[in-house]
Amino acid sequence: MTLDALASKYRAAIAAAVDEAALEDVRVGAMGKQGEISLKMRELGKMSPEERQVMGPALNALKDEIASALAAKKAGLADAALDERLRSEWLDVTLPARGRPAGTIHPVSQVTEEVAAIFADMGFAVAEGPRIETDWYNFDALNIPGHHPARAEMDTFYMQRAEGDNRPPNVLRTHTSPVQIRSMEAQGAPIRIICPGGVYRADYDQTHTPMFHQVEGLAIDKNISMANLKWTLEEFFSAFFGTKVKTRFRASHFPFTEPSAEVDIQCSWEGGTVKVGEGDGWLEVLGSGMVHPKVLAAGGIDPEVYQGFAFGMGIDRIAMLKYGIPDLRAFFESDLRWLRHYGFASLDVPTLHGGLSR
Ligand code: PHE
Repeated sequence: MTLDALASKYRAAIAAAVDEAALEDVRVGAMGKQGEISLKMRELGKMSPEERQVMGPALNALKDEIASALAAKKAGLADAALDERLRSEWLDVTLPARGRPAGTIHPVSQVTEEVAAIFADMGFAVAEGPRIETDWYNFDALNIPGHHPARAEMDTFYMQRAEGDNRPPNVLRTHTSPVQIRSMEAQGAPIRIICPGGVYRADYDQTHTPMFHQVEGLAIDKNISMANLKWTLEEFFSAFFGTKVKTRFRASHFPFTEPSAEVDIQCSWEGGTVKVGEGDGWLEVLGSGMVHPKVLAAGGIDPEVYQGFAFGMGIDRIAMLKYGIPDLRAFFESDLRWLRHYGFASLDVPTLHGGLSR
């Protein structure tokens, strides 16, 4: 075929290509390894110098022409494809948006964050421990030996042991106090931590559920006293309830503290609703005391050098008080109407400078 005939053949083929795939076939036919123009180029090598002087420039010109025709057509096809898409795809921006269901933050989570924010400001770090505990951490290390009545009083849930395994069964922790021991072991003295989390006791009525939440507090150093405990708690309650709250310490007994005290906060009971920080009523909210020397020793801390205070407070209980929630059981029933009513917006992150939550 003459160069002119080749030129018109490929001009026509390029013009006729309807899409990029067809155009690619044309390109391969002309310029691919076995393409007609490529083969012609290869023949140049066999020609005489005189022939080559004529054919060389002519072939190069043909090659350039077809290459630029291919490129121009390719751009044209891409533009056409885009135009077609723009014509056929469209979006009605006036349509109403699809609703997005938004969850809420559970009051227990919110209050846990509030508690952590307040104690963090007083230099307490947050520590955590497992909900399934060994007998040792939940009881023995806390000076509650096997025969101690406190074990029976706690209505403990015991885990199964395999047949023939005679170790004491693990338990669902009955309080957050085992985290005291774990923290002593992990970091030694001095310590300033709170440990929030779920705990378990076999109990169920308006103010008791088999799973509930506590926050443990523990401060250990060389000169800690009950006075520090009282100040810390009053500071906490006043920040938490947003008003000055008086506390009342009543002598009590826990195996892991000596002396021990139960702590009430001041409240009024007018018109069937509780108001914290006013009136002359009292409401029990926590157990506390000076950490028992045997407990310090169990945690590897020398009771001759260090002492500390500890407390355990019901998170659900103070959430009910602050937000006027009447029945504890509803906390764990996952009723959407309840969650929407008492839940918090996810952006309502409690901070001290932001004044905590409403
Ligand atoms: N662990 C106790 C309870 O669950 C509370 C407590 C904690 C008491 C720390 C004293 C010190 O009732």
